[in-house]
Amino acid sequence: MRPETGRVLLTGAGPGAVDLMTVRAMRAVQGAQALLYDALVPEEILALAPAACLRIQTGKRAGRASMKQETINRLMLRLARRGLAVVRLKGGDPSVFGRSGEERAFLEAHGVEVEVIPGVTAASAAAAQFGFPLTHRGEARRVAFATARVQDGSVVEGGWSALADPQTTVAPYMARDAAGPAAARLMAEGRSGATPALAIQNAGRPQARLVPTTLAGLGEATAQAAFDGPVLLVVGEAAAQARGYGAAAPARRSASARS
Ligand SMILES: C[S@@+](CC[C@H](N)C(=O)[O-])C[C@H]1O[C@@H](n2cnc3c(N)ncnc32)[C@H](O)[C@@H]1O
Repeated sequence: MRPETGRVLLTGAGPGAVDLMTVRAMRAVQGAQALLYDALVPEEILALAPAACLRIQTGKRAGRASMKQETINRLMLRLARRGLAVVRLKGGDPSVFGRSGEERAFLEAHGVEVEVIPGVTAASAAAAQFGFPLTHRGEARRVAFATARVQDGSVVEGGWSALADPQTTVAPYMARDAAGPAAARLMAEGRSGATPALAIQNAGRPQARLVPTTLAGLGEATAQAAFDGPVLLVVGEAAAQARGYGAAAPARRSASARS
C-alpha cells in the first residue's frame, strides 16, 4: 500500500541559539524523519533530530554550494510523497526572507499539506540582546525589514522613499556587502547622516558582536569590521538605545555637525 502523503513543516530555527527556538519548532525537529536545513542552522539544533532522521543540507556550508530552489522544492515533494514527516528548517523566521511563500505555493500546488512554524527573526534577536527597541513611542513608529540589491555600486530597487521618515527603523538583511550603498540611498532619500546605526553579527548567539555607528559611517564601519558571520544592519533613532552605543557618540556628533 502506498503511504499517505506526509506534511512539510516550514520551520523557523530562530537566530541560532537552541533556547531561542519555539517549543513547537523544537518538537518539529525532534519528530522529523527528513530534515532539510539551511546554512545558518547550527549543529546544536541539528542534533535535536532523531538519529534515524535523513539530514540534507541545502545551504552553503564548508565550501559546498547551495542547492537550487527548484531542487529543494522537488526534494521536499519527493520526501513528503514517501509519507515522511519533512521539516524544512531555516534560520530565523521562515516568513522573513525565507522563501516560505514560494515553498508553500509549490507544495500546496502538488497536494502537500504545509504548516509554517514561526521563529525569532534576526532583528528581534538583536534588539533583545543589545537592549534597544525596534519601535519606540515618539521616535520609531514603524519598522521595515528590508534588503538591498546592489549593481555598479548603487542600490537598484525602488521604494526606498518609503523609508525616508525619520521615525522608521530600517533593518536591512543580507546587506553586509551593501551597507555603503544602502546608507547612501537612505541619505539620498533624506535620512540624516547622524542617524544612529548598528551592524550586528551573530545576533542571538553568545559570540554576537555589535558595531555601533551612524548612517554616514555605516559603510566604512561594516567594511572595517571584517565580519565573517551573518550580519544585520539597523538604522534609526531607537538604535541609540543599544548597549554600547555610547562608543559611537563622537562619530554621531561629527556627522550631526556635517548634516
Ligand atoms: C536569507 S536571510 C534569512 C533571514 C531569517 N529568515 C530571519 O528571519 O532572520 C539571511 C540574513 O539574515 C540575517 N541574519 C540571520 N541570522 C542572523 C543572525 N543571527 N545575526 C545577524 N543577522 C542574521 C543576515 O542579514 C543574513 O544575511
